[in-house]
Amino acid sequence: MIERIEQLRAQAQQEIAAAVTSDAVEQLRVRYLGRKAELPQMLRGVAALEPQQRGEVGRAANEARRALEQLIGQRAAELDAQALEQRLLADTADVTLPGTPPQPVGRMHVINATMRELEDIFLGLGFTVLEGQEVETVHYNFDALNHGPTHPARAHTDSFYVREPAGHATKQTIDVKAGHDSMRLGAPTDLVLRTHTSPMQVRAMQAHPPPLYVVIPGRVYRPDSDATHTPQFHQVEGLAVDEDITLADLKGTLLAFAKTVFGDERDVRLRPHFFPFTEPSVEVDVSCFHCSGKGFQADGSRCPLCKGEGWLEVLGAGEVDPNVYSYVPTTERNAPGYDPEKVQGYAWGMGVERIAMLKHGIPDLRLYFENDLRFLEQFG
Ligand code: PHE
Repeated sequence: MIERIEQLRAQAQQEIAAAVTSDAVEQLRVRYLGRKAELPQMLRGVAALEPQQRGEVGRAANEARRALEQLIGQRAAELDAQALEQRLLADTADVTLPGTPPQPVGRMHVINATMRELEDIFLGLGFTVLEGQEVETVHYNFDALNHGPTHPARAHTDSFYVREPAGHATKQTIDVKAGHDSMRLGAPTDLVLRTHTSPMQVRAMQAHPPPLYVVIPGRVYRPDSDATHTPQFHQVEGLAVDEDITLADLKGTLLAFAKTVFGDERDVRLRPHFFPFTEPSVEVDVSCFHCSGKGFQADGSRCPLCKGEGWLEVLGAGEVDPNVYSYVPTTERNAPGYDPEKVQGYAWGMGVERIAMLKHGIPDLRLYFENDLRFLEQFG
């Protein structure tokens, strides 16, 4: 009997070692250790043996069973691990391979590239870059920038007003008598897609005490659409507030910008203009880089870029109107110190599309947003 146990154990050991799938191992478990298998039956029959044989046979059979259980467990685990390893190897995907067909690497959109270039210039001059919100309150977009109650830009035909989301009940009037929602008719609400980046002037002053030197790049919205206007466009706002700031500081800053963007030979000039939130206000021209400011080309014909003017209008600017400082609340906790008796400032707003248009000779602003790769691939 002992011999038979050893024989079974040796045979099972060999077969377990030779098994190559966990299914095969499971079959061996049933064959050698299952309920009807020989070894367990022997164990069950031990009680019927002669008393002097019971101990020896019982021990041998038990040992054999334990040994086989362990071997089966080990082999099954080994095979499972191997199978997993193989699955993982077969599964690898090289994410660095080019797609099919290989896709060219993208590039920065000409507007973003121009915006980054402008940010870099002003960072180099000591300005900090800030960003603002595109959905702005009427307070910051118009009121705090000195726009009178009848300023035309407030008209619902000149700006995109937005409804507040449902659940944010507002002080806006619902025209109950007429039985309709006045907002649906486009009547002004409290929220507007910002029409310029200037609302960030007051927000920046509220957040930081002077001296303040910031530029604010971002998207702005107006309902115009033609070759030189798109409903969404980009501006880079600038604001500097410090002691003893004059228009000469503004001119120097913008001259540095003009030379970097349009060439070292450029000059700038300021022309009187009007903005509600700057006083005095100016429009800033850069000398034409196509005809070097002469207004005509080498063959004597009129310069097509500046139309013979010798100058290109690039932005609006001015000295911060002292009244704007009164919209920067001075509380004990927040004492920014925008006292018009002590500080002065200048601000400008430049159109990114216009600057890129001049620089690259782009004839129609709408090209920027049509996503035609033949156009976009020429830049960046
Ligand atoms: N916000 C003005 C515009 O969009 C530009 C501007 C900015 C003018 C700052 C003066 C000072 O037209």
